[in-house]
Amino acid sequence: MDIKAIVSQMTLEEKAGLCSGLDFWHTKPVERLGVPSVMVSDGPHGLRKQEEKVDHLGVNDSIKAVCMPAACATAASFDRALIGRMGEAIGDSCQHERLCVVLGPAVNIKRSPLCGRNFEYFSEDPYLAGEMSAAYINGVQSRNVGTSIKHFAGNNQEHRRMSSSSNVDERTLREIYFPAFEISVKKAQPWTVMCSYNRLNGTYASENPWLLTDVLRKEWGFKGYVMSDWGAVSNRVAGVAAGLDLEMPSSGGINDKKIVEAVRAGKLDEAVVDQAVERILTINYRYLENAKPETPWDQEADHQLSAQIAQECMVLLKNEGVLPLNKADEIAFIGEFARKPRFQGGGSSHINSCKITSALDAAEGLKITYAQGYSVAKDEATDEMIAEAVSAAKAAKVAVVFAGLPDSYESEGYDRSHMAMPACQNRLIEAVAAANPNTVVVLHNGSPVEMPWIGQVKGVLEAYLGGQAVGLATVRVLFGDANPSGHLAETFPVKLADNPSYLFYGGEGNEADYREGVFVGYRYYDKKAMEVLFPFGYGLSYTSFAYSNLRLSAEEISDRDALTATVTVTNTGSRAGKTVVQLYVGDVQSTVLRPVRELKGFEKVELQPGESRDVSFTLDKRAFAYWNTALGDWHVETGEFRIEIGQSSRDIEVCGTVRVNSTVALKQHYSMDSIFMDLMADPRPAQALKPVLDRIAKGFGPSPDQGTTDAAKEAITDEMGMAMLNYMPLRSVLSFSHGMIDEAEVQSMLDELNRA
Ligand code: BGC
Repeated sequence: MDIKAIVSQMTLEEKAGLCSGLDFWHTKPVERLGVPSVMVSDGPHGLRKQEEKVDHLGVNDSIKAVCMPAACATAASFDRALIGRMGEAIGDSCQHERLCVVLGPAVNIKRSPLCGRNFEYFSEDPYLAGEMSAAYINGVQSRNVGTSIKHFAGNNQEHRRMSSSSNVDERTLREIYFPAFEISVKKAQPWTVMCSYNRLNGTYASENPWLLTDVLRKEWGFKGYVMSDWGAVSNRVAGVAAGLDLEMPSSGGINDKKIVEAVRAGKLDEAVVDQAVERILTINYRYLENAKPETPWDQEADHQLSAQIAQECMVLLKNEGVLPLNKADEIAFIGEFARKPRFQGGGSSHINSCKITSALDAAEGLKITYAQGYSVAKDEATDEMIAEAVSAAKAAKVAVVFAGLPDSYESEGYDRSHMAMPACQNRLIEAVAAANPNTVVVLHNGSPVEMPWIGQVKGVLEAYLGGQAVGLATVRVLFGDANPSGHLAETFPVKLADNPSYLFYGGEGNEADYREGVFVGYRYYDKKAMEVLFPFGYGLSYTSFAYSNLRLSAEEISDRDALTATVTVTNTGSRAGKTVVQLYVGDVQSTVLRPVRELKGFEKVELQPGESRDVSFTLDKRAFAYWNTALGDWHVETGEFRIEIGQSSRDIEVCGTVRVNSTVALKQHYSMDSIFMDLMADPRPAQALKPVLDRIAKGFGPSPDQGTTDAAKEAITDEMGMAMLNYMPLRSVLSFSHGMIDEAEVQSMLDELNRA
């Protein structure tokens, strides 16, 4: 299709019209020119296609669809191929349902356990979030259906989400909040990007030219179109100019008119409107020309796929010999979630599931007794419920309590105010654990919870919000038909107050200051060597693994070279299983504040008992770099870097070092205010100013006319003198030289240095 030719035939009104939705879910058609309308739909872990009453909060019904595990779960799989398969299935269902774009993945960083939408987001780690997101996008788009990676950017809280400003310094944006988007754009080129509701450093994301054009398009090379989150537009004309192509949903014609007026008044270049229309139509036709509504959608097959995905995501957090369960034993399933699992979160991602399999359904035929334990609707556990649960627990070999967060505890639209589980459930778990020493807790939640009972139970399985087949997956894992292999994509702190954003999360009024900077999640807990409940990357298996023989391809590289790290991984247990090999990099010594370690590679590997395999990672400049604001670029400081490989961020099994030499000279500006220490540390001024500095160093000391006693003079040792001298600016050491050195001479040396 010749898109440019279509655009050239459109009137200004038609073009302005195309820059906003027809209604809640469609783009506008231009019937005169035969341009059809296309439909978009939520997303991300299944379809929320609404045919009648529409909304963006998950209130009204949508078609029956398959609810796959939410991102909190899929991230824990650390499995790119797996989430790619999920993307393919979702892409196929989009084709079947005539959808051009599925609204996801949602990749915002989990800055605090409190964010109401954490269940929809992948991780506290930007690399993991980016890799999982790119794999999902590639999966969906392999079916000629688009994605909309969201919410760009800095949308890490629900509180005041449409007015709050996320105030984040540039280095933190580049290192923590941008990479999931950047990796996705570079590796998967999403058809669309959805800008967020919030402001970023004072400017709405929907009208931020630096964000939507300079960074997204010019730096990263994004080629698709940008759409607004639903209702995220404040100043539409500023938005068009900034690079926001499509406003969603419809603006009722109001903003279309404003675009026309702005062009007529010479305030907005018509070429910018043309460009937006061209981008939207390019994507629409990419779908239209490849539409395959005859694609079958086998929902039963997707239900089975969803179970398979869920079992790869579950994280075994604790197991003191109690799991896997024996099918011949009598087991008590306790808690309403065993019968009615919580498997998805609330809001725009809410799916009208075609089928739900609970753990009780899945365990049919086994020796299971059931006690409700608590009521989700009433959020209470009566004495009778507890008594019934205790007697079921006493009669059973093992008691499995299905617990977690009810729907009302976490959802799009608001944040949590604490990290606790319902008090009634904690009480139930303690009572059951007191009645039966073999107690296991299965958790359904979208974000970390505090576990006051952790010392009283023998097993904990984090099932997250595992999709509509979560019960099937849970029973397979509990009874050992599947070997758990999920690892945490987020830290579980001991308590909420330990979280680095604790003091500032939510902000004051509309100002949310990200004062913890780059120290998000394990980057903070590791820097402070804090005790955590479960660390990032952690997860147990029914087998065991050993990592050995780390080989680095070089001892020394330049920042233009790649380094290969290879490790041998062995299944040392008696069952087949999967391990998540994690590679972290840490700068041994740095002049800027950096995390102890950062995830720079991971691979999920399946091994038979006794089997060994080599796993290799390639590290490039980015793996060693931090964002240097003065340079406006990634920078590697020359020096040693630790390469750590392990089974979690706190379980490093092998470690090596490499020296990386920078090929970029950081240009410093020196003045009379520059301090001695900095001048001496940089070879250029150290050499240029050497004679002067030597004279100053020699002459350094109190002047005779200050009446200093000999004893005091002796007390000023060389070391102390140097230490004091270190922090002095050039101007004050000059004055201490008692006229020995000519200021003009030093100034001209400085000018020379700064010119070079
Ligand atoms: C959400 C988006 C969603 C959109 C459409 C918004 O409220 O933030 O994630 O895609 O609604 O439902």
